Amino acid sequence: MHAFQYRDGVLHAEEVPLTRIAEEVGTPVYVYSRRTLRDHYRRLDQAFAEVPHLICYSVKANSNLGVLSVLAREGAGADIVSGGELYRALKAGIPPERVVFAGVGKTAEEMAYALRSGILMFNVESEGELLLLDRVAGELGKRADIALRINPDVDPGTHPYIATGLKEAKFGIAMEEAPAVLERAAALEHVRLVGVHQHIGSQITDVEPFRESLERTGELVRSLRRKGLEIRYINIGGGFGIPYDEEEVPYPVDYARVLAPVLKEHGCTAILETGRMIVGNAGVLVTRVLYRKRSGKKRFLVVDAAMNDLIRPSLYGSFHRILPVVESLREEETVDVVGPVCETGDYLARDRSLPRAEPGELLAVMSAGAYGFVMSSNYNSRRRAAEVMVDGRDFLVVRERETMDDLVRGERVVPG
Ligand code: LLP
Repeated sequence: MHAFQYRDGVLHAEEVPLTRIAEEVGTPVYVYSRRTLRDHYRRLDQAFAEVPHLICYSVKANSNLGVLSVLAREGAGADIVSGGELYRALKAGIPPERVVFAGVGKTAEEMAYALRSGILMFNVESEGELLLLDRVAGELGKRADIALRINPDVDPGTHPYIATGLKEAKFGIAMEEAPAVLERAAALEHVRLVGVHQHIGSQITDVEPFRESLERTGELVRSLRRKGLEIRYINIGGGFGIPYDEEEVPYPVDYARVLAPVLKEHGCTAILETGRMIVGNAGVLVTRVLYRKRSGKKRFLVVDAAMNDLIRPSLYGSFHRILPVVESLREEETVDVVGPVCETGDYLARDRSLPRAEPGELLAVMSAGAYGFVMSSNYNSRRRAAEVMVDGRDFLVVRERETMDDLVRGERVVPG
C-alpha cells in the first residue's frame, strides 16, 4: 500500500497535491509519504511478531534524517555501512543499541566511533577485519559483539550488481572457511561472537532463496551450539523486493510464513536489515518536462531530472513507472524520457508509452524512495534535488535543494 493516488485528476501524496509541492519547492523534488513509511514498517513488524526480532532499517536505502526519524519513532534500529550512516542514525534518534554495522571495508576509525557509541554489534566480513576489530576494541578497553557474515552461496535471481550471496561475490565468509575464522574469533579477547549474519542480495521477489540460505545458516548455528558457543542472533539481511510495475511480489506475511518457523526453531532473536521494502514505494521523484524533441523516428521528452538524480535506470536498466501528475486523457505516444546530462545513458525511461506531455507539465517517477536520492550526485554540476516529507495535509522540506555555494563548498581557486 502506498499513499500516492489520483484525487480529482491530480496525483497526491496523502492529502497533498504534487502540483502544490512542485510550485512551492520547485523540481526535481523527491516526495516521501510518512503514512506509507509507517504502514510498511508496521506490516513487516507485525508479520514477524511471533519471533523475537529487531528491524534494523537499512540506512543506505534512504538516509534522509526525516525518513530515519519517522522510523526511529516506530522503534526501528539501523543497519549501517559507514561512520557517516552511524552519525545520521544517531542524529535521527535511533538508539545505538539497535544499530548493526555491516560492510567489507570498515576502517579502524569507524570501528572506534561505533564502539564508543555503544552499537549492538558488528557484522564481520573477513578475518582481517576480525583482528583489527579486536585490536581497536582492546585499545578502547571495550569488547565488540559480532556476528560473522556467512556467504551461503545462494543465487537470489536478481540483477548481478545486487546479488551478494554468491561465492564469487566480495561479501561475507564462505561456509567452508567459516569454522576456522570462528575458531580464531573464539580465541580473541576483545571480540565476542553473538550471531550469524547473511545477506544474499537486493530486490529479490521470491521467498525460496531466503529459505534456502536460512537453512544453510541454521546448520552452521547448530554446529556452533554443539561446540558450546552461545549464538543469540540470526541476521537474515535485507533484500525483500517491491513491485516496480504491476508484478506480484511476496508480502511480509509470505516471508514470515516460511522464515519464522525456521527462526523460531533456533530460539534466536532475528534481525532484519530491510531497506527497499520499507521506503521504496514510499517515495516519488517529481520532474517537469522541459522540451519535446524528435530525432528520426524517436521521440524524446527532456525533463529536469536526470541520471544524477536517479541513477537506477542508467545503472541497472531498472524500470520505474512514470505517471503524469495531472491525469491526462491525451493520446499515448512512445517516448524516451531523458534528462539534461551529457550522456547517452542519461534516461529515466526508454520506449515508454505515455499520454502526450507538453513542456511545463509535471511527471512523477514512481517507486523512487529507495536508492534514489542517496545515489544522486553533482555530475554536470547539477545541484542535488530537494526532499519533502508529506504528513496528511502538510509537508515539510526535509532537505533543501542545494545552492550554487553548496556546489563549490570546500573547493579553492588556485592563487597566482
Ligand atoms: N543488508 C546489507 C548487508 C546490504 O548490503 C543491503 C543492500 C541491505 C541490507 C538492504 O537491502 P534491501 O532490503 O534494501 O534490498 N542500489 C541498488 C541496491 C543495492 C543494495 C545494496 N545492499 C538498487 O538501486 O537496486
